Amino acid sequence: DKGNHRHFMLKEIYEQPEVVARTTAHYLDMANGKVRLPADLPFDWAKLPRISIAACGTAYLAGLTAKYWFERFARIQVDIDIASEFRYRETPMVPGGLMIVVSQSGETADTLASLRYAKENGQHVLAVVNVPTSTIARESHIVMPTLGGPEIGVASTKAFTCQLAVLASLAIAAGKGRGFIDEADEDRLVRAMMEAPRYINEALKLEGHIAQIAKSLSKAPNVLYLGRGTSYPIALEGALKLKELSYIHAEGYAAGELKHGPIALVDEAMPVVVIAPYDRIYEKTVSNMQEVAARGGQIILVTDEKGAEHAGIDSIATIVLPDLPSTITPLVYAVPVQLIAYHTAVEMGTDVDQPRNLAKSVTVE
Ligand code: M6R
Repeated sequence: DKGNHRHFMLKEIYEQPEVVARTTAHYLDMANGKVRLPADLPFDWAKLPRISIAACGTAYLAGLTAKYWFERFARIQVDIDIASEFRYRETPMVPGGLMIVVSQSGETADTLASLRYAKENGQHVLAVVNVPTSTIARESHIVMPTLGGPEIGVASTKAFTCQLAVLASLAIAAGKGRGFIDEADEDRLVRAMMEAPRYINEALKLEGHIAQIAKSLSKAPNVLYLGRGTSYPIALEGALKLKELSYIHAEGYAAGELKHGPIALVDEAMPVVVIAPYDRIYEKTVSNMQEVAARGGQIILVTDEKGAEHAGIDSIATIVLPDLPSTITPLVYAVPVQLIAYHTAVEMGTDVDQPRNLAKSVTVE
């Protein structure tokens, strides 16, 4: 049932404040500002040699975001891989490490094969999964559910933000377990996480403005997305969403990679979506944005109030989110990139819930 919405995808985008709240409440003790994981762990964070992550598509991008969090909060090395690459690479694994697999459906063939390889190679396997009865959930040692409810739209939306909520909670737990996060930090981070649903709600209010921007995007043959730090995976997610829904060619790049190739593409016909919250690397992204502007690129800036104030360039459009704690920016900035892709697809008249050539669950290689 789509409720009042025109598509399942839009309904699922709008469910995010509720499902992210439900998911975070499952992992965080809100009253006391502490992480409280729903399952016991068969390992000690402090003794963990390494974390590996494998997943596909949007779930992979949740994993890529988590790498930044685990490294920052818990000072642990993280290998992140696309599951179809990981499964055949025969990578050596230090026994006693942690393998995290991320999957909405829990049935993705390559992710399942990665899980089995990790098990055979002495890893603790933890699944962040939306379908608790799935094969991936059944075969993993530890299941950390996303409480997104059924996701019908082929494009993953609410599953992604719920995956981010679970992975951020795990990274905070890891930081605490390894002694890099003290009680005050934990309290601050948990409170930031608790704010995510409210900020997601604020982001949803920008839908009308984003629908206007989508009108011009729908005429572009190519779109570039740029971001740094945890905004890099969000740039990749924006590009993935746009291509799968609107069939417009889109690429996501780490903003710093611009001058190593993709800047050659930039001209007056090229929209460039820049994901740049006002964080510690904002200035670096702005200088990349100026390089784009100098070549006539059409900038669509996704930022916050402070970022909009300090941007100092002419963008064709600015999507302004509220200022928010940096830890939760990926959970909130996911929403405008989803809405950009959704409205561009609606504008073009493509089948939003069932894009051509795609399946919701990829159970074959
Ligand atoms: O069910 P999974 O999360 O394992 O699926 C992984 C990908 O197939 C999935 O995220 C895909 O990339 C989506 N269509 C993205 O919107």
